[in-house]
Amino acid sequence: MPQTRLLSADAPDIAAAAALLAAGGRVAFPTETVYGLGADARNDRAVAGIFAAKQRPSFNPLIVHVADAAAVRDLVEMSPEAAALAAAFWPGPLTLVLPLRQGSGIAPLVTAGLTTLGVRVPDHPIAQALLRAYAGPVAAPSANLSGRISPTEATHVRDGLGGRIEAIVDGGSCGVGVESTIVGFDADGTARLLRPGGIPIEAIEAALGTALLTAKGAGITAPGQMESHYAPRGQLRLNATEARPGETLLGFGPVTGDLTLSASGDLHEAAAALFRQLHALDASGAARIAVAPIPEHGLGRAINDRLRRAAAPRP
Ligand code: TXA
Ligand code: MG
Repeated sequence: MPQTRLLSADAPDIAAAAALLAAGGRVAFPTETVYGLGADARNDRAVAGIFAAKQRPSFNPLIVHVADAAAVRDLVEMSPEAAALAAAFWPGPLTLVLPLRQGSGIAPLVTAGLTTLGVRVPDHPIAQALLRAYAGPVAAPSANLSGRISPTEATHVRDGLGGRIEAIVDGGSCGVGVESTIVGFDADGTARLLRPGGIPIEAIEAALGTALLTAKGAGITAPGQMESHYAPRGQLRLNATEARPGETLLGFGPVTGDLTLSASGDLHEAAAALFRQLHALDASGAARIAVAPIPEHGLGRAINDRLRRAAAPRP
């Protein structure tokens, strides 16, 4: 079992984190969405180490992180539609699933054998510093045990993965708080939403100039999307306007609750608070959690997606 080093974001520690990645180690680092668990995307053993640390039961494909769009072009084929979204939203919380380039050097375990690769350029100074210091593609799922709540603070990572990974770079709280929006493309260039996330669907449609289709019924699938996920230990009840006996109420806007995602009903604030509040409810031992209704627009779609998964029957 590795002893997990806690690193800061100063230059010597970023250099140490990059050296650990180069040596095949697992390093958790902050992004603007959630903390990622990074490893060298060209090293099969290092990538296997991510699956082992997270106890991911099946080999779902991982997102590869690089410092800029130029580095993305070495890995995948960029269609005009993809280039338009990259120009509009990178660096930022958008993942594009694109055809893997021949000779990219990406370990087959990263794509779980698919011919496509999920790529993203994170908008976070520490993620950027680490990616530039390492100067290579970094595969990184969220830095939580499989099926558990995603981490938005270094302490969340340490509580879930301490003793299972080589290092954690502490960068404070993640600003966006929900994972990236994932978009894939049909052969004719049609964009499809694979996961709602930190970039609202409305903004992507505005950049594309067309509607964003959903993955339903399409050839493209996002493996792992159907699992119960993001789950606290307690049972969740959604769209609650008041607590029933024995429930802890997580509020939003006019629904006050025992704690709240955003008292003012702000969806950005609610996204940033979502996983932190679910971690807090977990830590408090809440057995039954009621959650106020969240409007289904903007970041509300990503929040509701995560809440529905958290409330889904457990495997
Ligand atoms: O914001 C994020 O995206 C965070 C941070 C760390 O960057 N990462 C993240 O990774 O959420 P993860 O592994 O928890 O979720 C990645 C999702 C999975 O559901 C996976 O199935 C999907 O992306 N995915 C990855 N590559 C894919 C591919 N080639 N085709 C379809 N889905 C893919
Ligand atoms: Mg995840």
